[in-house]
Amino acid sequence: MKGIQSQNQKPLNLLSKLSNAFQLHFLNMLSYFLLFGCGLTLGIIITTYMKDFSFNLQFTQFSISTSSPSSSSLSSSLSSSSTTSQTLEKQIPTVSVTEETETKSNISNQILGLEEYLKPPSVMHNMTDKELLWRASMVPRIPAYPFNRVPKVAFMFLVRGHVFMSPLWEQFFKGHEGLYSIYVHSNPSYNGSAPESPVFHGRRIPSKEVGWGKVNMIEAERRLLTNALLDVSNERFILLSEACIPLYNFKTIYNYLINATKNHVMAYDEPGVVGRGRYNYHMYPDISLKQWRKGSQWFEMNRELAIEVVSDSKYFPIFQKYCRGNCYSDEHYLPTLVSIKFWEGNSNRSLTWVDWSKGGPHPARFWRTDVTLELLRSMRRNNTGCAYNENSTNLCYLFARKFLPSTVDRLLKFAPKIMHFND
Ligand SMILES: *[C@@H]1O[C@H](CO)[C@@H](O)[C@H](O)[C@H]1NC(C)=O
Ligand SMILES: *[C@@H]1O[C@H](CO)[C@@H](O)[C@H](O)[C@H]1NC(C)=O
Ligand SMILES: *[C@@H]1O[C@H](CO)[C@@H](O)[C@H](O)[C@H]1NC(C)=O
Ligand SMILES: *[C@@H]1O[C@H](CO)[C@@H](O)[C@H](O)[C@H]1NC(C)=O
Ligand SMILES: *[C@@H]1O[C@H](CO)[C@@H](O)[C@H](O)[C@H]1NC(C)=O
Ligand SMILES: *[C@@H]1O[C@H](CO)[C@@H](O)[C@H](O)[C@H]1NC(C)=O
Ligand SMILES: *[C@@H]1O[C@H](CO)[C@@H](O)[C@H](O)[C@H]1NC(C)=O
Repeated sequence: MKGIQSQNQKPLNLLSKLSNAFQLHFLNMLSYFLLFGCGLTLGIIITTYMKDFSFNLQFTQFSISTSSPSSSSLSSSLSSSSTTSQTLEKQIPTVSVTEETETKSNISNQILGLEEYLKPPSVMHNMTDKELLWRASMVPRIPAYPFNRVPKVAFMFLVRGHVFMSPLWEQFFKGHEGLYSIYVHSNPSYNGSAPESPVFHGRRIPSKEVGWGKVNMIEAERRLLTNALLDVSNERFILLSEACIPLYNFKTIYNYLINATKNHVMAYDEPGVVGRGRYNYHMYPDISLKQWRKGSQWFEMNRELAIEVVSDSKYFPIFQKYCRGNCYSDEHYLPTLVSIKFWEGNSNRSLTWVDWSKGGPHPARFWRTDVTLELLRSMRRNNTGCAYNENSTNLCYLFARKFLPSTVDRLLKFAPKIMHFND
């Protein structure tokens, strides 16, 4: 029994001790609470007072600098004027403030549809290359378009000055509005004094200096791609020069490109000095000699690859750094990049016919008297059989170069007959 009693007493003692401790604790807690409450109230009072105080200060400053500010424009001018010099703004604020509130109210009044959001900006803008590349690299994660998207072909002209073949292109594009878009990158030194024909009017993008065989040629190509990517309707992207002509009519070229399952970036391994000889060992290990490719710069690609090209921040800096002098980035960057990362979707061939048979660093150029019906016919059937969507086709080249300005009138005479521009 004793054992039990003592056992019973022990918990009783413990209980009373516990309750004592609890009471003490509770009192402590209560005092803490009271203290905390007091602090909180004091804090709230002080902060509201301070806010009022600083607001009053700014308000007095503001009323000094402007004659009659409206209450709605107050907040915007307060935030904008706080860091700038007060004396300078003595006359300006009233004007800028009213403009700001007007555009603000217009924006809030306007109801924008998806069309409005997707509208490509004006071809002339002041975005930097860095801003453009970032903007163009955006991709919708939902692949299905929630509207009827008619795919367009982006014709990107990398030219020195005037697109002298424009009368031919006018005929080519006539009647196919809505299925194509045009972008022109010309040398900044070209002042554009020659009258632009309608389809090229206002299609010149902000351009920079381009040197033959220099890495800034790739920068220009990427600049064209980024500008063209801003139009969500553009699905195929083709690079052309002022010396290029179409070999078929619009309908044929459009169907060929829109239905194509592969890209057309020429890429091959050239063992000689003009191929592997241009490889720089500093590019290793990111680019090995085995991966080094050569090809014509006149590419054609789909939207997916175009986005990959403008988003490439790994290989392009390597070319900028190590492909200089006798390296000629325009003949190696895209062929190498595409062959390393996107070879599966590439046909490895170009769509632009060119005559290298004469030798030398430049392909054959055509003068006025060279242009005959026979020449155009031979270019159209100069097909040794090539692959198109896993099948063999006789239609290998859609474009040809290099034509000099003097060829325009004879081309205009022969081309419609052979190419059936009006079909
Ligand atoms: C904003 O709307 C007002 C009237 O609603 C109009 O007078 C003004 O021109 C518009 N401003 C702009 C920038 O569109
Ligand atoms: C482009 O123009 C806008 C409006 O004039 C200006 O706010 C912006 O700073 C300019 N950007 C560049 C990069 O010049
Ligand atoms: C454009 O440049 C050409 C040649 O440099 C010059 O003759 C012409 O006057 C210039 N035109 C304008 C409008 O600046
Ligand atoms: C190519 O596309 C056109 C429509 O643009 C279509 O009418 C035609 O059937 C397609 N051809 C092939 C081979 O898929
Ligand atoms: C293109 O070249 C790559 C090698 O760079 C090769 O793997 C691929 O099969 C080629 N594609 C075609 C269609 O020939
Ligand atoms: C293809 O072009 C080459 C080079 O101009 C020429 O020698 C050849 O005769 C042409 N082939 C055909 C079938 O026209
Ligand atoms: C390839 O050609 C065959 C007949 O020549 C045709 O039945 C098939 O649809 C073609 N395939 C493609 C992908 O165009």
